Amino acid sequence: KKAYYFDSIDSTQNQALKMSEESVNDGTIIIAAKQTGGKGRLGRKWISPKGGIWFSIILQPKFDISITTLFPIASSLALSYAIEKTFKISPELKWPNDLTIKGKKVAGMLVDVSLESNKIESLVLGVGINFDVDTKQIEKTLKGTSNFYGVASLNEQKMKVKPKVLIQTFLVELEKIYELLNSKQTKNIIAEWTKRSSTIGKKVELNTVEGKIKGDAIKIDDDGALIVSEKNKISKIIAGDIIHLS
Ligand code: BTN
Repeated sequence: KKAYYFDSIDSTQNQALKMSEESVNDGTIIIAAKQTGGKGRLGRKWISPKGGIWFSIILQPKFDISITTLFPIASSLALSYAIEKTFKISPELKWPNDLTIKGKKVAGMLVDVSLESNKIESLVLGVGINFDVDTKQIEKTLKGTSNFYGVASLNEQKMKVKPKVLIQTFLVELEKIYELLNSKQTKNIIAEWTKRSSTIGKKVELNTVEGKIKGDAIKIDDDGALIVSEKNKISKIIAGDIIHLS
């Protein structure tokens, strides 16, 4: 498997997408020390200074499209395992794929899927980890933007973990989870995600094209969709952003 390293790049995600169009290579990883045009979910910016861990992985999964929505959730669980092993703390998981520490965002995932006649041709998983970054500085930049709720950095844990060790541990965990997804063994993934979730059991709010939904986050479905119950309605949320109200 190949790894490409950049001191500085616009976005490892863009680079990986470009490379996946040229010749797809399952497991290729693109890492950068800093990104000048880091991308977050839903068209947002991702502030990526030196000190963070920014990478994208090209995958050619065997699982079918129905499992694609579970993939980012499963990947955030894999990162959670890796942080538990290395930093000895358990981050909370905020639906769909944020990792938080004491309610502040420490990592996020971005997934781009390219389809070919309804089959997954390739998938690019982008992972951003605030490893050793100036949280105050990032918070200043992000204040007032949508879905901003505070930034955490792993170095606040005062543990001597090398970035390389965290990345390697994550890749091992990701591979295990990837195999589970490929063989459709999703029960355990959902159970373990739920155990760590800060979303399930909370009152949540989100905006959809059909309007605002406000209710209780009950559980995630087999495909990773969030089930929210309102007074007289149950909604299944496939994508988007939620706000925790309680
Ligand atoms: C989010 O929570 O909004 C997702 C953040 C994903 C950031 C990572 S950093 C590496 C990769 N390259 C990018 O431009 N974005 C992802």
